[in-house]
Amino acid sequence: MNQHGGYTGDNKNILDFSININPLGMPQTIRQALHSALDEVDIYPEIDGKSAKHALAQALGCYENQLILGNGASELIYLFPRSITPGKALILSPTFNEYKRALTLNNWTYTPFYLKKENGFRIEVEELVKAYESHRPDVVYICNPNNPTGTLYSLEVMKKLIGSLPDSVLWFIDESFIEFTEEESCDQLVRDGWKNIFILRSLTKFFALPGLRLGYAIASKAMITKLNRYKEPWTINTLALVAAEKIYDDSEYIQKTRDYIRKERQRVFREFQNINGIIPYPSGADFHLIALENNNTDWLLKALNEKNIHIRTCEDFHGLEGTHFRVAIKSIEDNNRLIKALREVMEASHEA
Ligand SMILES: Cc1ncc(COP(=O)(O)O)c(C=O)c1O
Repeated sequence: MNQHGGYTGDNKNILDFSININPLGMPQTIRQALHSALDEVDIYPEIDGKSAKHALAQALGCYENQLILGNGASELIYLFPRSITPGKALILSPTFNEYKRALTLNNWTYTPFYLKKENGFRIEVEELVKAYESHRPDVVYICNPNNPTGTLYSLEVMKKLIGSLPDSVLWFIDESFIEFTEEESCDQLVRDGWKNIFILRSLTKFFALPGLRLGYAIASKAMITKLNRYKEPWTINTLALVAAEKIYDDSEYIQKTRDYIRKERQRVFREFQNINGIIPYPSGADFHLIALENNNTDWLLKALNEKNIHIRTCEDFHGLEGTHFRVAIKSIEDNNRLIKALREVMEASHEA
């Protein structure tokens, strides 16, 4: 198993900044729907979630046969390489580690293409074309906004990147955090008939439902048909299907979350910039990647844990190990506790 965020120790008072879940909690509409759906768990759910796909297709403006549901986005990360003839993948890195494992388990080979921190972990078209020419991948993996760097590309830039490679190259685009941003999703491209893109969405982060396990992908009918051939039946349970049917209903909640995250992201970023010894990267998501000048994230984790605060250190991300950490955006009060603790710990380290 890969390493992930989430505090697993015994401290009951820990404030956990290592997982990036909407601090506003799940929408009330979903909570109520889940309560009512409890009576339905004594029958099998729809085998392929047809009703939920119908509702999602309406919300997204696509066809039902362009959608596939997953037991979290994770199921689809594994289903994708299982359903397609194995080949070579290029992974724009550092990024979410599950892509690598899913590829390896399904007999794919991959090359991580490490983006430079000096360039804000962004790739330019010329660089991508060169990487393509050296590696000739069948699929390019990109996470937008990217976990853990927070790098966000606009739809225009994504179109340029995709358009710079031959149409035969598939694009696996993980948009699990896109709902937190103001940028447009690449799902527009699927609606416009682009055939070589697979867009992955997680509904667990934005809608604060990590325990329910719910995600989906949108792609051409042909690609979705391939994945359906390999998908196990009933992977989405009754409660998750009920949530999926209503997920985009509460537009007020969606806007409120976006407004909150945008404002709070700007505020905490400015505060982080004023703490000596750490350098935050601008982010398009609900978290920040931060570089630690003394290159000792083990020390920082320990010092913050003593103040009941947990962070995501990056030892499993090549190039960030020991030197970088990631923190979620939580409530204003919680964020203030993090800022205060970080300031105290960093000041003490400079005095020592
Ligand atoms: C970029 C990215 N994609 C996908 C996932 C998996 O999400 P889910 O909980 O929907 O399986 C995560 C979880 O952290 C993630 O960070």
